[in-house]
Amino acid sequence: MNASRIALVTGANQGLGRALVEGLAARMRPDDLVLLTGRDDQRVADAAYEINRSPGTRARVEGRVLDVTDTDAIARLAEEVRARGGGVDVVVSNAVARLLPEESQAERADEFIDVSNTATHAILRSFAPVLRPGGRLLVVASSLGTLGHLDARLHHLFDDASPDQVEYAVESWRSALHNGTAQEAGWPLWLNVPSKVAQVAAVRAVAAGRREKDLADGTLIAAVCPGMVDTATSRPWFSDYSRAQSPAQAAEAVLDLVFAERVDPALYGELVRFGEALDWHGGTPPVEQDRLLTP
Ligand SMILES: NC(=O)c1ccc[n+]([C@@H]2O[C@H](COP(=O)([O-])OP(=O)(O)OC[C@H]3O[C@@H](n4cnc5c(N)ncnc54)[C@H](OP(=O)(O)O)[C@@H]3O)[C@@H](O)[C@H]2O)c1
Repeated sequence: MNASRIALVTGANQGLGRALVEGLAARMRPDDLVLLTGRDDQRVADAAYEINRSPGTRARVEGRVLDVTDTDAIARLAEEVRARGGGVDVVVSNAVARLLPEESQAERADEFIDVSNTATHAILRSFAPVLRPGGRLLVVASSLGTLGHLDARLHHLFDDASPDQVEYAVESWRSALHNGTAQEAGWPLWLNVPSKVAQVAAVRAVAAGRREKDLADGTLIAAVCPGMVDTATSRPWFSDYSRAQSPAQAAEAVLDLVFAERVDPALYGELVRFGEALDWHGGTPPVEQDRLLTP
């Protein structure tokens, strides 16, 4: 990696994203820069201010407004980091739109898909080309992101798909939600399942096209599952908090991937949970009534 490095995290003013920024800022060097991004000016500024004042912080943390539903803004930021430092060393796509159990998932579908999927596609498209050799581009998914969690009729849309095919699959899902055909086509009511499968499929698709060169350079593109984390997003869905990690605890395994000396080829392009790749074809479709968040 270059002498001075740049890291960027989306949805980073609270929850896991904030803990990732704290961990990056603690483990990177004083001449490195961590861009803490989020959609709200004040929340972003407050979080960056607090982390910069924390005794554990070594690198400089800069708050930047980035609403990930603005794909042009994602492209502009990628161009800015390229112009500023020749590229980026660490990108973590982490943002998620918060859903509450009492809300209609269908009514929030557009926002949810825009934040989790359209944004992930834009981040992969804009930031993968400016990732420096030895860099890390990680998409925070969940253990629901393996193909087996979807109805078998939908597998062909995501299995061995190209980046364009994954984007098409996501838009097909969105259209089916809009025109009321989603359920008969096999899409679950619970948005988090197709959304996480599509995130992992997008990572796999981009990684497949650059695997050899990335492994030669020590670069890692992967999806990550943080496990169950006690955050404002997950809290309304938990009936039992005893297994939930704090955001700082959950960030550790992700940060270990970021700072690993070498890239394990078995993790490249995969969904990684606590340092292990999950089987892409694993999982079974969840029972619809069981709406507990299963990280
Ligand atoms: N918590 C868990 O148990 C768990 C389990 C598995 C996977 N995950 C994954 O971990 C990631 C982080 O989740 P979390 O639990 O830490 O959630 P969180 O605490 O609610 O944080 C989500 C962040 O995303 C931001 N966000 C929402 N819409 C955005 C937009 N349009 N542009 C930019 N940022 C936006 C939120 O901003 P505001 O602060 O402005 O609302 C917030 O900072 C997600 O990808 C989630 O799916 C979590």
